Amino acid sequence: MLKLPNRLLTIAGCIEQGEAIADIGTDHGLLPIFLYQQGISSKIILSDNKEGPLEKARRNLFTYLPDENIDIRLGNGLIPLDYGEVNTVIIAGMGGRLIIDILEEDHQKTRSFGKYILQPRNAQDKLRMWLFRHGFTIVDEHLVRERHHICEIIIATTNSYTFQRQHVSKEQIKSKEAELAFEVSSLLLYKQDQLVKEFLERKILKEKHIIQEILVKGGGKDLKRIIESKNRLEKLQILFDQATDSAVQKQEDLNGD
Ligand SMILES: C[S@@+](CC[C@H](N)C(=O)[O-])C[C@H]1O[C@@H](n2cnc3c(N)ncnc32)[C@H](O)[C@@H]1O
Repeated sequence: MLKLPNRLLTIAGCIEQGEAIADIGTDHGLLPIFLYQQGISSKIILSDNKEGPLEKARRNLFTYLPDENIDIRLGNGLIPLDYGEVNTVIIAGMGGRLIIDILEEDHQKTRSFGKYILQPRNAQDKLRMWLFRHGFTIVDEHLVRERHHICEIIIATTNSYTFQRQHVSKEQIKSKEAELAFEVSSLLLYKQDQLVKEFLERKILKEKHIIQEILVKGGGKDLKRIIESKNRLEKLQILFDQATDSAVQKQEDLNGD
């Protein structure tokens, strides 16, 4: 039986029994193969925009599902899919901007799939902002450790009946506060995800490093950037303290204190 790394296993855990799925940018194809093997999804589509990765997927299909006739498609983003032909689209292990480009290509087709599991490697804030502005609902999020990274997994749903562009002004979207709100998911804070403190701690260390760099390189001349960074640091620190308080409270509740 195929064993998945933690990141892909967490994504697999977001698929409900019986969901038909398409894995866009499947590469090795291990995630859809696992979902099929486990009897979670009886319809899987493996898609990638390059022949090389699809060849890898074919080899894995030959190893793990030799007797099955699995659907493999070559093409860019959602183009190889027909409208609404699966319940759930998985796009994992790509940059956030590339995921946005894929979702942007054909809005009507994008909205024809009910659920998305997205795992952007970067620009997570840009992707959340895009989802928000285009009427998606982020229904859940997960953090998962992969080697020295903490990966973010976003589950978003479309509701074709109530779909409408959110009215958010450019100023609101651009404000530094909004940036942080899209960067640090309030769902992860609310859920008290077990990696959320470390996730914030890493951002705090990075911000401190940025301030240090500006000071060393410019001798403190770049006042605007220092102030911006310090503001960000302060907000991150508040979120970290809140996450710490919640974790302490949770532990006390568990202990029955
Ligand atoms: C780093 S791999 C991720 C593989 C797998 N999804 C995972 O998370 O382990 C990214 C894959 O996306 C594919 N890819 C990149 N841009 C794409 C696009 N526009 N449409 C479809 N696939 C794409 C690449 O060829 C590559 O196989």
